[in-house]
Formats: sequence, C-alpha cells, structure tokens
Amino acid sequence: MSEKKTIADTTVLVTGGAGFIGSHTVVKLLESGYTVVVVDDLSNASEKVLDRIDQIVGDEASERLSFYRADVNDRAALEAVFDDCQIDRVIHFAGFKAVGESVQKPIEYYANNLGNTLTLLDVMREHGCKSIIFSSSATVYGDPDALPLTEQSTKKNATNPYGWTKWMIEQILTDVAKADPEWDVVLLRYFNPIGAHPSGLIGEDPKGIPNNLVPYVAQVAVGKRDAVHVFGNDYDTHDGTGVRDYIHVVDLAAGHVAALAWMNGRSGVEIFNLGTGTGSSVLDVIKAFSAACGKELPYVIEPRRAGDVTANYADCTKAREEMGWEAQYDLADMCRDSWNWQSHNPNGYED
Ligand SMILES: NC(=O)c1ccc[n+]([C@@H]2O[C@H](COP(=O)([O-])OP(=O)(O)OC[C@H]3O[C@@H](n4cnc5c(N)ncnc54)[C@H](O)[C@@H]3O)[C@@H](O)[C@H]2O)c1
Repeated sequence: MSEKKTIADTTVLVTGGAGFIGSHTVVKLLESGYTVVVVDDLSNASEKVLDRIDQIVGDEASERLSFYRADVNDRAALEAVFDDCQIDRVIHFAGFKAVGESVQKPIEYYANNLGNTLTLLDVMREHGCKSIIFSSSATVYGDPDALPLTEQSTKKNATNPYGWTKWMIEQILTDVAKADPEWDVVLLRYFNPIGAHPSGLIGEDPKGIPNNLVPYVAQVAVGKRDAVHVFGNDYDTHDGTGVRDYIHVVDLAAGHVAALAWMNGRSGVEIFNLGTGTGSSVLDVIKAFSAACGKELPYVIEPRRAGDVTANYADCTKAREEMGWEAQYDLADMCRDSWNWQSHNPNGYED
C-alpha cells in the first residue's frame, strides 16, 4: 500500500515533464501544492518550457520545482535523482509517441518506451517508491465493438509498435502489482488531448509535420500549411468523417492530480478513462477552429488512412464517481486555447 501523505509532504517525479501533457500536469501539481521533480532528456521538448512554467505558477510555487536533464533509461542518472530527492510518487510520461514513426523505427520505440519503464520500475523499487501513474492511451481499445468505451471494454491487438508499447506497459505494470501487493498503479487511458494552457505560454510544439489533427489545423490557421487533409468522408458518422473524443490538456492534467489524491494510501492496479464522453468529427474540429481563429480554414478530402477507426469516445463515469474528476472544457474552449498558443508562438518554443 502506498504511504498516506499530505500534499505538502509529497514529492512527485514527473518523467517527460517538459513535454506537452507533462508540462501542463507540472503546472497543476505545483498549483495544488506538490513538490515536483522533472526528468526529461529533451528529445521532444524545449528547456524553455521550464521558464514558461515558472511564469505561470509564480515564484513561491516554482521553488518547489526541480529539473534534471536525463534519459530515464540511464540508470545511473536516474539513481542520482532518487538519491537527491525523496520521491514519493511517479507520473510516467516519458516515451516516444508518433504512431507512424513507430512503424519505421520499432527498435527505437520498444527500446525507449519499454526500456525506460523497466529501468524506472527497478530504480523505484530499489528506493522503496512503489506508486506510479502511467500514461496509457485509448489506442489499447483498437477498433471498438461498442461505444462509449468503458474501462471494461476489450483490449484489442495494437496496429503499430507505439500502440503495442502502451499495451505491453499496461501488462508489465499489472504483473508488477500482482507480484508485489505494495505497488500502487494507476493506468490512465487518454483519449485525444488537444488545447493549450489558457495563458498561451505552454502548448503542443510538434517537430516537423504534425501527426495529429489539431496541431495540423493550427498550422493551417497560422499560414504554415495550405489546407487540412481529411482522411475519409465515407465513415458511418454524422458527416462521414472520423469521430474522436477530444479532451483539453488542462482537464487531462487535472485528471492526474485527481488520480494522485485518489491513490494516496491504496494498492493494486486501477484503470481510468480520461476523455469528455463527447465525440467530435474531423469536420466539427475544423469548424470549431475556424470559429476560434475567425477565418474559414480550407480542407481537402483524401482517401481513408489504413488503421484509422470510425469512431471512439469514452465513458468517464468511473473517473467521476471514484476520483471526482470530470472534464470542464468543450471543443470551442480547446480550439480557442490552441489558437491562442499557436498565434502567439507560431514557431512553438523556437524564437
Ligand atoms: N499526446 C497524445 O495524443 C497522447 C495520447 C495518449 C497517450 N499519450 C502518452 O502521454 C505521454 C506524454 O505525451 P505527450 O503528448 O506529452 O508527448 P511529448 O513528446 O510532448 O512528451 C514526452 C516527453 O518525454 C521526453 N522523453 C522521451 N523519452 C524520454 C526518455 N527516455 N527519458 C527522458 N525523457 C524522455 C520527451 O523529451 C518529451 O518531453 C506519452 O507517454 C504518450 O505516449 C499521449
């Protein structure tokens, strides 16, 4: 069982805390009163994020934040962090996340995502820290048999190495908790995180051509790309385009803070969906973003893409009933905040 602790006494290690979801979660943790240690190798993030976090949370809270630039898979470096800081809980975001790239680079994806998780778990155990929240994904549900998706919905075979890493890490953590009942594991299955902090200071900063819809739409809005490519308009949905459950990254961050409070003093494995419960189509997103940025965004219809499912959206009853967490923002809010971030930072964190 994890030791029951007050927030003021709890230090949370956030791996990948300089990334998109990690940075928003670090803000929420600091605002809630936690002490936060970020370990990030900056393979997909900028060090500037840390200054921006300081600006958002202010001097008092930023004193509770420390940063180590290190690869979680570098055992000696990770041990040094655990020796320096009394870590009570871990939120594990660090990993590679591009589906397409994972098909091209399976060895790198398995080595990083699985390798760093195993190193992390071993170092945690060695330091008597057995409390972890893991970033899983709705991708583990594959092509759903029925909607909305509950935590009991069947896990399906993944269709790419990235998806398999999420699937396998869920299994690894489940086995670890089964072997040693002192472990306290929460698997959070995210739906589609978008949006940005309302301050416009932190947001998603994809390298190269964005893989996900909203960052792509945002780059069309800012004039960096010509038109949005819509893959398939003959799906069985209200307008023929694919439907997903988009969730504001600030709501997602709050879900981690709720999970920390919930797991305090528990043991075992628990799974929670984090979504809004509302499905929006690609055309709904383009329309909402057009409204947010004040111009009609051009799009072109392309053939369906292999591996895309028709629709998915979450049933989030369990997170509401158990953790008291519920998404607060709607699609218009997400697009407004995404546009605010993109228009103030057209090149992301680069000058
Ligand atoms: N964004 C999504 O749509 C989505 C959906 C479901 C799940 N997730 C998962 O949530 C987590 C965070 O996603 P994100 O969108 O913030 O991605 P991100 O790439 O912005 O953040 C990941 C961070 O981890 C760091 N990192 C990667 N490998 C590392 C290593 N070995 N050691 C230290 N740092 C390392 C990167 O520099 C980056 O800052 C990932 O595990 C991702 O798979 C993301």
